[in-house]
Amino acid sequence: MAQDILKTLKAEHDVLRGLFADLKETTDRAVKKRADLLGKIESALIPHAKWEEEVFYPAFKERADRDGLQTHAEALAEHHAVENSVLPEVHAAAPGTPVFAGRTKVFGEFIEHHAKEEETTMFKMARELFSPDERARLDEDYEMWKQSNPVGSLIAAQKAKAASRAP
Ligand SMILES: [Fe+2]
Ligand SMILES: [Fe+2]
Repeated sequence: MAQDILKTLKAEHDVLRGLFADLKETTDRAVKKRADLLGKIESALIPHAKWEEEVFYPAFKERADRDGLQTHAEALAEHHAVENSVLPEVHAAAPGTPVFAGRTKVFGEFIEHHAKEEETTMFKMARELFSPDERARLDEDYEMWKQSNPVGSLIAAQKAKAASRAP
């Protein structure tokens, strides 16, 4: 089957959906499980979001019409809200608390909203803007990008950035 970046990104959204569903079912006593699931969520989310920001969104923006540009701005603003506000609040909560449960619920809802929006609007537009060949090439590029940008270093970079912003 031909590779398609839009299918890969959608499949990664589905992985995240599954992890958030598991997290939602944990109790305040499941401290280790919660920390574990949060780690898995970040390992899945951060490379996905970084590559979208560095490669996919700019490529999309270059070809987008007016509606596409609005969609692009919207998606990027949502990424920033997660990085600058939603995730730092999650990290400021102890996993064995209702605060953590509440904040990760919002985190999951935010990601669901964003993923749905990408799938129903942005990816739909991208299917028209990029040929099957281009989508296959983007998929290969993403694979290679992941190999040269290991999850651990991406997360470390994000944490360093968050720490430098902390009051
Ligand atoms: Fe995104
Ligand atoms: Fe995405």
